[in-house]
Amino acid sequence: MARLLNVAVLGATGAVGGEFLQLFERRGFPVGRLKLLASERSAGKRIPFRGDAVEVEAVRPESFEGVDVAFFSAGASRSREFAPHAIAAGATVIDNSSAFRMEPDVPLVVPEINFDSIPEGCRLIANPNCSAIILLMAVHPLTRLGRVERLVVSTYQSASGAGAAAMRELEEQTRDVLEGKDPQPRVLPHVYAFNLFSHNTPINEHGYNDEEWKVIHETRKILSRPDLRVNVTCVRVPVLRAHSESVTVEYEGEAPSEERVREAVRNAPGVRLVDDREHNVFPMPLAASGIDEVLVGRIRRDLSHPSAVSLFVAGDQLLKGAALNAVQIAERLLDAGRL
Ligand SMILES: NC(=O)c1ccc[n+]([C@@H]2O[C@H](COP(=O)([O-])OP(=O)(O)OC[C@H]3O[C@@H](n4cnc5c(N)ncnc54)[C@H](OP(=O)(O)O)[C@@H]3O)[C@@H](O)[C@H]2O)c1
Repeated sequence: MARLLNVAVLGATGAVGGEFLQLFERRGFPVGRLKLLASERSAGKRIPFRGDAVEVEAVRPESFEGVDVAFFSAGASRSREFAPHAIAAGATVIDNSSAFRMEPDVPLVVPEINFDSIPEGCRLIANPNCSAIILLMAVHPLTRLGRVERLVVSTYQSASGAGAAAMRELEEQTRDVLEGKDPQPRVLPHVYAFNLFSHNTPINEHGYNDEEWKVIHETRKILSRPDLRVNVTCVRVPVLRAHSESVTVEYEGEAPSEERVREAVRNAPGVRLVDDREHNVFPMPLAASGIDEVLVGRIRRDLSHPSAVSLFVAGDQLLKGAALNAVQIAERLLDAGRL
């Protein structure tokens, strides 16, 4: 029987946190003792797990005693504050926040792509940005067909990417509009129902928002391609769950044929080809919601450029874009006897 692990989830009451618990059950992750951690606000709350109810504790520096693996998803400042305590207590931390992603010594991992970048004995692993993971699940198989020079990406990002409160806001605003009331933005900066807007993160001196900057730099780090040219536009759309992305991949020299691209997608782990021109069925966020695979389709030559192919992607960013990717990292470490 597999060794049981003492597991902690920091951010257990959040949108990503809830997915961890379901994944542990669904995938038979060998949880021995489970610690659910959040803020003081949630202390004492009970969350169902494997037919039982586990009480949420307010996180403290000493919360990680005896923990083997700690999944962090409570924002970057909590990660900066508590990861050193968890590591000192002997845990391996898999962090969903942006706190450590671009630190040169911290591996930034999508297991299907660069699991081998985790050095022996490593105790802090960063889970990439959700839009970057979904993009790379589609693009990585295509990097085997030729040297990719440039990516042009537009995202269509759902409410769940901004957490549980943003999902509630979209539902409430939609109800308000349908009832003839004025929708009031509280969590996100603009009216969300029946609208869309540029991603709600600060804009830097180049005119790119934080989300776009993360996708550019994390893509380069994960693919070990610091020279890769990446142009990204990130937009929030009034979809409850799962992000979609329009992607154009530009190669050095002539682009591979559509059939070779389809074949590469078909053979790649963790992605599913959805490319039915006859019935006009392509990746959609509703179809991607709640499933592990990232959907890839609308594969076509870019007729404006002989070196480029275009595609459309949809993936559940709470799963492959966050909790599932983190659990897969832990599973691979466990299989390798490294947890
Ligand atoms: N949503 C996504 O698709 C996604 C994807 C990739 C990465 N992430 C990252 O995952 C993290 C969580 O995102 P989310 O969408 O799950 O957010 P969320 O739904 O807003 O949940 C936030 C979680 O953090 C906890 N928390 C907040 N302040 C805290 C504090 N001071 N001390 C301890 N716990 C605190 C909350 O606990 P309370 O309930 O007690 O407030 C809650 O459990 C963020 O770092 C986010 O960037 C999210």
